[in-house]
Amino acid sequence: STPSLLILPGDGIGPEVMAEVRKVIDWFGAKRDLAFDVSEDLVGGAAYDAHGVPLSDETMEKAQQVDAVLLGAVGGPQYDDLDFSVKPERGLLRLRKEMDLFSNLRPAQCFDALADFSSLKRDVVSGLDIMIVRELTSGVYFGEPRGIMTEGNERVGINTQRYTESEIARVARSAFELAKRRDNRVCSMEKANVMESGILWREVVQKVHDEEYPDVELSHMYADAGGMQLCRWPKQFDVIVTDNLFGDLLSDVAAMLTGSLGMLPSASLGAPMANGRPKALYEPVHGSAPDIAGQGKANPTACILSFAMALRYSFDLGAEADRLEAAVEQVLAQGVRTADLMQAEGDTPASTAEMGDAIIAALDAS
Ligand code: NAI
Ligand code: MG
Repeated sequence: STPSLLILPGDGIGPEVMAEVRKVIDWFGAKRDLAFDVSEDLVGGAAYDAHGVPLSDETMEKAQQVDAVLLGAVGGPQYDDLDFSVKPERGLLRLRKEMDLFSNLRPAQCFDALADFSSLKRDVVSGLDIMIVRELTSGVYFGEPRGIMTEGNERVGINTQRYTESEIARVARSAFELAKRRDNRVCSMEKANVMESGILWREVVQKVHDEEYPDVELSHMYADAGGMQLCRWPKQFDVIVTDNLFGDLLSDVAAMLTGSLGMLPSASLGAPMANGRPKALYEPVHGSAPDIAGQGKANPTACILSFAMALRYSFDLGAEADRLEAAVEQVLAQGVRTADLMQAEGDTPASTAEMGDAIIAALDAS
């Protein structure tokens, strides 16, 4: 049956970048005969304005039914004073929670044309292609007890790092599965030297490896050393798997190896559905960028590359994902760039739509 896709453009630049993704989806339908059953709905502030909630039950239901969800961004200053329960980001959190998206994929990929953008030397990052898999639904951000308590005559802030074996095993599996489609190497990062949860993490990842993925190369690293190695020689890694907290930090570090926020896609995957595909939400790493919203300045590439990840991980269209990424690479090499990717003063930036059109032209030529 026709693969189904729910598009949630959201707020700020979300709808602007999503309009360019629509062009790409239409191109695959017209030129590659790949039809998608696309529906569109509201999330975040846009949903709050229409329904008084940042994600309606109907939209949640739809998200559970489709093969993949593609989200733009949520939030904006006009919503900052809303009650916590209806803040735009609660829409996104509800999606992640109810779809149980425990595996967050953050690629750090350096297009050669942008290697000079990195804060590191060109040869350290050029051609870099690594994947950080962050556990997303457990760990210290969720563990109980938590809160600010009173102890004697002062307050104490408490969070609890907590991982069950099954929570570790399922994200490890997700990393090993990815590695099999890539360079067949996984590096697991924790702090087994000082944390009980780290000891269990290392043990369970090793066990899943030995019993289910003995042919994938597995190494372990302390997360602090991992951070150093990511900046020293990131190309030593293929897939990195780590917990929620370390993954938050390490994926932000890895992101900056490669340049602009406008280039970074992500995927969040859950358990396999009846059709064997994982529950999946794809979204750019960036937010709604209120400072440039409505001006046609936003870089649509992060959202377009998020769709490329959907092609690869939800629709088994890896070759088409490669085609789309190659088109992006070619456009960057041609020097067509939105303002966030400008190097010299006086260069004329491409608009959001011009960037999207250039990617379509490169697809046409592919
Ligand atoms: P942001 O990612 O929206 O913007 C940070 C900076 O990067 C801004 O200067 C922005 O103009 C620039 N930028 C971001 N995406 C860009 C793109 N595609 N092209 C060109 N430039 C781009 O983060 P910020 O400013 O901290 O948050 C703004 C709003 O977005 C807040 O309401 C925040 O809560 C929300 N947010 C939403 C996220 C999501 O939907 N997943 C993630 C992060 C923030
Ligand atoms: Mg972060």
